[in-house]
Amino acid sequence: MKKVLAIMGSPRKGKNTDKLLDKVLEGIADSDIEIQVKKIYLKDINLSPCVACDYCGKTGKCFINDDMIELYREFDESDGIIIASPLYFNTVSSLTKIMIDRCQVFWSSKYVLKNSSIDVCKRRIGMFICVGGAPYRENQFDGCLPVMDLFFKAINTDYIHNIFVSNTDKKSVLDREEIIKKCYNTGKKFFDEEV
Ligand SMILES: Cc1cc2nc3c(=O)[nH]c(=O)nc-3n(C[C@H](O)[C@H](O)[C@H](O)COP(=O)(O)O)c2cc1C
Repeated sequence: MKKVLAIMGSPRKGKNTDKLLDKVLEGIADSDIEIQVKKIYLKDINLSPCVACDYCGKTGKCFINDDMIELYREFDESDGIIIASPLYFNTVSSLTKIMIDRCQVFWSSKYVLKNSSIDVCKRRIGMFICVGGAPYRENQFDGCLPVMDLFFKAINTDYIHNIFVSNTDKKSVLDREEIIKKCYNTGKKFFDEEV
């Protein structure tokens, strides 16, 4: 059985980011392999920002005792990790970025301590979903790419899938059948090696 961790980084439940994530999860649930999904709303959990105390550079652990401790374990044990965020000021939401910065633990453990606190031999597949309210513009989502790339590297995850949707402030994703279909199909193929 494969484990998928789905992280919802919009403060708005039931809106565009959340709906697209659910469609992807629906596709994943309908794929041929047995999959267990855990969905986490960042809005609902207790997450504090990184304070750059460098405790992780000395111990490989985070000094802050909040819900991130559980998320570290989830990242380590998951075969698939999906991050869904709205586009805010050309990058991920602050909720999402707080979670990403806390993954400095993995970076420090690997590159400072040379003793990784995440299993580096396990194969994980990564997906990033992002919605932008403004009309489509070339490079609209480019600000997110280096952030997500480094994040997925930190959690030893192969960053394979991207779903970007523009113009959500004018037209909800629920009224866009081709996008809903694309999300479902991408979810269904999530673990296919050839995508
Ligand atoms: C603080 C803030 C910043 C935003 N910045 C951008 C932006 O840079 N580019 C863009 O296309 N939309 C931007 N938007 C619009 C959101 O991406 C859009 O409303 C999106 O649908 C929000 O996702 P949700 O519907 O899942 O909450 C911004 C919205 C907020 C609240």
